Amino acid sequence: MTTVGFIGSGLIGGTVARLAVAAGYDVVVSNSRSPETLADLVAELGPKARAATAAEAAGAGDLVVVSVPFHAHAQLPVAQLAGKVVLDTNNYYPERDGNFAELDEGKLTSAELEQRQLGTARVVKVFNNIFHAHLASLPRPSGDPERSPLTIAGDDPNNTRREVVVDPGSIVVDPPFLGGGVLGGGFRPFVQAGPSQVVGREGVEDESLLEALDEALAVAQGALQQLEVVVTSVRAAVRGR
Ligand SMILES: NC(=O)c1ccc[n+]([C@@H]2O[C@H](COP(=O)([O-])OP(=O)(O)OC[C@H]3O[C@@H](n4cnc5c(N)ncnc54)[C@H](OP(=O)(O)O)[C@@H]3O)[C@@H](O)[C@H]2O)c1
Repeated sequence: MTTVGFIGSGLIGGTVARLAVAAGYDVVVSNSRSPETLADLVAELGPKARAATAAEAAGAGDLVVVSVPFHAHAQLPVAQLAGKVVLDTNNYYPERDGNFAELDEGKLTSAELEQRQLGTARVVKVFNNIFHAHLASLPRPSGDPERSPLTIAGDDPNNTRREVVVDPGSIVVDPPFLGGGVLGGGFRPFVQAGPSQVVGREGVEDESLLEALDEALAVAQGALQQLEVVVTSVRAAVRGR
């Protein structure tokens, strides 16, 4: 049975862990503190789950979900992730993560920066463009007409789709796969590369138009997510008065 390791087990990581267990995977969850602090989540997830350190979760996972604030990528256990498929959910928010010059200048995306840091691991961007509550509430079985597609992107056209195991029945992923060098442009924040820039880029041929549109959709969804974060913060601030 495939084991999914989790580095970060918060809103997104915890939700994907619940979906993974429901789909029959074993999971090893971790956070920035200690395995003991994940006792409630492990109890909820049941016998297919255990908690460990981040390095242990990386080592145990056949697939590893990295779902931490972007600024924490520098602490990822590079050696334990070597050669593995890393499912990266993170988004770069300078107001939360601090400023990274290469990202601010548009030279790299956060996924490209993480890929560079992780070396032989194969970074796949997924679950970064859906609100955690929707991830929990919208799963649909394969073939359901209401099933929501999620965009998934990696730079490894030969291996990514096969190895990521994206259709376990209850995880709401039915990806238009973007292979070959797409960790770049398509996942830049909306403010850096809007949909027209993505769709209108040079070299978009007819057969790749749908892929370009999927990229544009991912960009728009990222913008929507940023708006949701702002609305949530403002709501909390207003209610806290
Ligand atoms: N929330 C959403 O709807 C949503 C949607 C799409 C994408 N995202 C992105 O996904 C990522 C995770 O978001 P989230 O909302 O799930 O965050 P979250 O609820 O704050 O959870 C973050 C998790 O990362 C862990 N963590 C932090 N630093 C770590 C480190 N150095 N090593 C290991 N674990 C570490 C935290 O552990 P501790 O609790 O011990 O600190 C926690 O388990 C972010 O980049 C976010 O922008 C979020």
